[in-house]
Amino acid sequence: MTIAYAQWADTYELFEGETAQDTWRQGIAADLAKLAGGPATVLDLGAGTGVGARVLTELLPALQVTSLDRSPEMLDRGKVPKERQLVGDMADFRTDSVYDFVVSGFDALNYLPPQALASCLSCVADALRPGGHLIFDYSSRKVLSSDWRALAYEQEKDGYRLHRRHHYEAAFDRSRTVLTLRRDGQTLWRETHVQYVMDPFTLEEIARGHGLQTLSVRNIDSDTYSPQHTTHVYVLRKD
Ligand SMILES: C[S@@+](CC[C@H](N)C(=O)[O-])C[C@H]1O[C@@H](n2cnc3c(N)ncnc32)[C@H](O)[C@@H]1O
Repeated sequence: MTIAYAQWADTYELFEGETAQDTWRQGIAADLAKLAGGPATVLDLGAGTGVGARVLTELLPALQVTSLDRSPEMLDRGKVPKERQLVGDMADFRTDSVYDFVVSGFDALNYLPPQALASCLSCVADALRPGGHLIFDYSSRKVLSSDWRALAYEQEKDGYRLHRRHHYEAAFDRSRTVLTLRRDGQTLWRETHVQYVMDPFTLEEIARGHGLQTLSVRNIDSDTYSPQHTTHVYVLRKD
């Protein structure tokens, strides 16, 4: 099976670019702007085509963002400079540098099953300087198990038709999405994406075990928190 996002790289921003940018602006960028007081280093996990790096440096030009993704196609397609690319698994990475911020946007961490997310939090704790922050947005259980329980729809852009079929697999507590891209009646490719969700209490407990204390969890579009919202933004601080 081809790895998710290898084939989608070419048309990812055509379909997701605007929504991803809005998500970054409302979510991670808004919280990071309150904490960054000047030049700072940022590691972006599941960075894809580097939408996050662009949004963050547009807002805060003194930031130096390194983009980590397991799909070199996504990093290259987004023109992330080679010296700012790290190709690897966000559930198992080691960095030579320590960072002021680790971020992860547009629900990238939902790609990690619970064990892998726990492992990712351990790697994040190693990658952050003391007092550094982890900031990420994360889709809620409501999205995976209710909104996407059984949902299919198609979008058309520049002659491409992207069909998505979401299905919640209750037995495995995960969401499976099949994406199919067609043009002129021909199927160009098909990818399967599997996503997970960890409840906030468990996530915070595991993070605390690695010295990452939760400062805030909010709905992406407000300062309040409601479990049934689609997307939450977490801010954690390393001891
Ligand atoms: C929804 S996209 C988000 C991309 C980007 N953060 C954005 O805002 O547009 C999820 C990204 O996570 C990456 N990804 C998924 N699982 C990964 C893993 N275990 N390690 C590294 N990257 C991963 C995918 O390759 C993809 O680029």
